[in-house]
Amino acid sequence: MEKRAFIKSYGCQMNVYDATRMADQLRAEGYTIVDEADGADLVLLNTCHIREKAAEKVYSELGRLKNARGASGEPTVIGVAGCVAQAEGEEIIRRQPRVDFVVGPQSYHRLPALLAGASRGEKPVDTDFPAEDKFHHLAQPTRRAITARGVTSFLTVQEGCDKFCAFCVVPYTRGAEVSRPVAEIVDEAQRLAEAGVREVTLLGQNVNAYHGANGRGGHASLADLIGRLAEIDGLARLRFTTSHPNDMGEDLIAAHRDEAKLMPYLHLPVQAGSDTVLKAMNRKHTAADYVALIERIRAARPDLALSGDFIVGFPGESDADFEATMEIVEAVGYAAAYSFKYSTRPGTPAAGRTDQIDEAVKSERLQRLQALLADQQRAFNRACVGRRLSVLIEKKGRREGQWVGRSPYLQPVHIPADAGAIGDLVEVDITAAEGNSLFGRATGASANPSRSEAA
Ligand code: SAH
Ligand code: SF4
Ligand code: F3S
Repeated sequence: MEKRAFIKSYGCQMNVYDATRMADQLRAEGYTIVDEADGADLVLLNTCHIREKAAEKVYSELGRLKNARGASGEPTVIGVAGCVAQAEGEEIIRRQPRVDFVVGPQSYHRLPALLAGASRGEKPVDTDFPAEDKFHHLAQPTRRAITARGVTSFLTVQEGCDKFCAFCVVPYTRGAEVSRPVAEIVDEAQRLAEAGVREVTLLGQNVNAYHGANGRGGHASLADLIGRLAEIDGLARLRFTTSHPNDMGEDLIAAHRDEAKLMPYLHLPVQAGSDTVLKAMNRKHTAADYVALIERIRAARPDLALSGDFIVGFPGESDADFEATMEIVEAVGYAAAYSFKYSTRPGTPAAGRTDQIDEAVKSERLQRLQALLADQQRAFNRACVGRRLSVLIEKKGRREGQWVGRSPYLQPVHIPADAGAIGDLVEVDITAAEGNSLFGRATGASANPSRSEAA
């Protein structure tokens, strides 16, 4: 009888990518991947530990799954993967005994053994940081699986973090920074391109610190890697996320000027605008450093747009500190941003501070910051009206006869479906902006920087 597996992911894009790799592995084990927990023989929760709310979601989901059964009538096997698995390990089974196994992000290649252990009732917990590279040992996706996922894809090139920002769990849940070798990434990107992927987003918790083995005894920088990937026929667009300001090398800035396939959109979190707070966060740069960096990047690529992450209410943040965050947002101008109330994370340096900020103060600050960021996003979108932007057609729109694609700035763009097909890159005259979406008309010109006739 066919076995069905359902994977539910929380958190960042890296979890989304890991979920695809786990799905490919489970397929190789004979599972069919389904899109709901109902009737699944295996449910894998791919969890996030970044903020308290994210971590707590896992337990409410586990509570809901308690009595789940597969199609055969047997109780559903329940696994917990991801960053909560890494952070809490066996504690998860103590809190929810219905869980059959726990697997940390660096051990996904051991899924087959963990499933075997779970079926014997052993309740295995694997939160090691093994020496071997999980990606090297995980099953490769089939061409059909890649095609089914669409024309854009994530590709993890670097994992883990050595920065230890005082608020953040990632260095503990994902471990030390590790870069995948160039050849392995090129192989994977080639395979994606051959199956119809046009846009690849390179992922890493600190992606611009990438330094993978180049096969000649040395290391490649992220800019080197981008140069190499840009040679792959069929790939039309490259992106990378997330970057730390201190790792924004000259060659990477130059790549934004010189590499046509690299999109002029950069996620470069600053977190806060006050030097006192930045220092306490252990970000290792000042607000002025960040603003000067943005100026250099914009000098290299004037049409580049920025997105960022912000935290309000870090321990000790005064009213004046918060105003400095508002000021840096005003000074930089963001096309999009994510902002959060500081959340105390067990085991991180900031958690032990006695000057935690009142929830009500955090809420008020977040509201003000989000209003400003939303204004900036609206202004950016409105300023796109009248511009001609390249759009990668991704799927059917909600309305009949409509395609939805993405602009270079990741905005959804709706166009009449008489222009092109899914996977085409078309030039679009933007005619309107509504909410976070743009609307326009294809000019009839292809925007493909390089696409072989055969593709
Ligand atoms: N590696 C990335 C981001 C990792 S987490 C980077 O360095 O930018 C994504 C975002 O979550 C962070 O940028 C930060 O804004 C937010 N975040 C991380 N820890 C947090 C915490 N304890 N409370 C609130 N927000 C947090
Ligand atoms: Fe977390 Fe800082 Fe590392 Fe980003 S750079 S993952 S915020 S510790
Ligand atoms: Fe969450 Fe882990 Fe990503 S904590 S944000 S899933 S690296």
